[in-house]
Formats: sequence, C-alpha cells, structure tokens
Amino acid sequence: MKAIRDLKIIKIDEIAKGIFSLVLERHLDFGALKPGQFFNLALKSRELPLLKRPISLSTWDDTTMTFVIRKVGKGTELLCAAQPGEWVSAVGPLGNGFDLEAPAAEATLLGGGIGTAPLLALAEMLSAAGTKVNVYLGYQNEPYLVENFKKVADGLFIATMEPVDGLYHGNVVEYWMAQEADETERHVYSCGPDAMLHMVQLSLKSRSQKGHLLTEERMACGIGACLTCAKPIERDGEVHMLRTCIEGPVFKAEEVVFECK
Ligand SMILES: Cc1cc2nc3c(=O)[nH]c(=O)nc-3n(C[C@H](O)[C@H](O)[C@H](O)COP(=O)(O)OP(=O)(O)OC[C@H]3O[C@@H](n4cnc5c(N)ncnc54)[C@H](O)[C@@H]3O)c2cc1C
Ligand code: FES
Repeated sequence: MKAIRDLKIIKIDEIAKGIFSLVLERHLDFGALKPGQFFNLALKSRELPLLKRPISLSTWDDTTMTFVIRKVGKGTELLCAAQPGEWVSAVGPLGNGFDLEAPAAEATLLGGGIGTAPLLALAEMLSAAGTKVNVYLGYQNEPYLVENFKKVADGLFIATMEPVDGLYHGNVVEYWMAQEADETERHVYSCGPDAMLHMVQLSLKSRSQKGHLLTEERMACGIGACLTCAKPIERDGEVHMLRTCIEGPVFKAEEVVFECK
C-alpha cells in the first residue's frame, strides 16, 4: 500500500567505496513489499534538492528495510552522510516489482554495479520458494553484498572489469553466457546499467531464453503524474511510452526498446 512516512535511520554503513547500506525502520502502512519495488527517499532535514530520489528495496525483514545507495550527486550524498537516529522521508512502495506468482524451477540473476542491490531480495524469495538460483555479480573493482548473496545462491559467480585476484576478469554478461551456454531454460532476471541490460536482452534473444529486466530511468514524481520516466516498450507489435514508475521498473526482457538499438 503506497504511503508517505518519516522513517528513522537504524544503521548506515559504507560497504564499499562510495556505496552505503541504509537500514530504515519499516512502517506497517507500507503493507506487503515485493523485490524490484522502490521508494522515493530524501533526508527529512534537507533544504535541497526538493525531489526525493528513487532507490530500490534491497532486502527487508519484519521491522526494517535496507537500501543500498551509490553516492553520485547531491540527493544521494545527503542520504549517505546521514546518521542513525536521523529521519528519512519515504514514499512507497512504488513500481510493479518482480512477479513471483509462479516462480521458475531454475533462475539466473545478473547484476551490474549498484544493480546488484535489488536482486538480493529476489534471490532470497526465489530460494525460499524452492527455485535453484545462480547469481552473477559484476563490478568495476570492489565487490559488495557478496556474503548476503552467498547465503541464498546455489551458485555465485563474480566478475570485475579491473583485475582482482581470484575473480573472473571481464564482463559479467559474457561470463554468464560462457558458464551457462546450454542452460537456456533458466529464467533470467537482470538489473544494471542500460548498456548491460541491452547486452542481456540481445543474448536472451539469441538463445530464445526468457527474462525480465529492472530498468532505471530518470524520475521526478515517482507516482505516475509527470511522465519524466516514460520509456519505449514494445507490446503486440507497437511501441508504447510507459511510465517506469508505474508500469515498470520491471519489464519483460524482449519488450524494452533501448535507444542504442
Ligand atoms: C527505479 C529506480 C531504482 C533505483 N535504485 C537505486 C538503488 O537501489 N541504489 C542507487 O544507488 N541508485 C538507485 N537508482 C538511481 C538513483 O535514483 C540516482 O542515482 C539518484 O536519483 C541520483 O540522485 P542525486 O541527487 O544523488 O544525483 P543527481 O545530481 O540527480 O545525478 C548525478 C548523476 O547520476 C545520474 N543519475 C541520476 N538519476 C539517475 C537514474 N535514475 N539512473 C541512472 N543515472 C542517474 C545523473 O545523470 C548524473 O550523472 C535508482 C533509480 C531508479 C529509477
Ligand atoms: S516519475 Fe513522474 S510519471 Fe514516473
């Protein structure tokens, strides 16, 4: 159930350079949560920026919700500099989230950079539903959330673009394609930069494999009113401009029209 609430910061930690784990209290008014949904967040005491920033739920329990935030500009800088006991204004849960009504027997999760964060709750819920989950995580150089994924993944594969001892060196999508060349029945879920999602889409198409992509579009209102987040989505042979904050951010892999296409 969508609500606006002020939430107390329970814990905040820098888990890698410029990447922060923010634990907020969970309010009952938010109702049930789904992996792939997001909240619009802003530090309550801020003066600027006016607009809240969309941040995906990474995981949650009965009393807390955890977000993983990459510091990139003013809004995320303020959130990442906050202290336990301060208040965050939160609107959510927003977006459609991943549909887990009939989970596949086997799934592969592909995350790139901060796009690894929303896949954690998905991995947890798929695993609890009995799905065999392989997780591929791609980073520039410093992995994070690895221990969390280890607890639920049947197979965990990590790639870095810069060489790191003991880890696959290179593109995480190529790593997955090579490792699972014959496993085209697995359902694929991916979140990461657009260039990575486009590569996943092309790979899935070439293998006639099914998947879903969690896309990140620039947003303003987050509630369907401003159309800032409109994204071209191809359905039934026609391209529709759909709102990422309402009809997304999760779409079927084959539906997303990438601008570089
Ligand atoms: C549905 C959704 C879920 C998201 N989940 C997370 C998450 O879990 N963790 C996280 O760290 N970030 C997430 N983001 C991205 C996050 O919202 C932006 O990084 C944030 O809004 C930037 O705000 P800022 O004020 O710090 O930076 P700004 O000053 O607004 O921008 C700084 C830089 O970040 C780029 N940027 C801003 N917004 C986006 C965006 N939506 N996508 C890509 N680049 C952007 C700008 O182009 C600019 O280069 C998500 C975005 C969406 C739409
Ligand atoms: S952000 Fe305003 S309609 Fe989606």
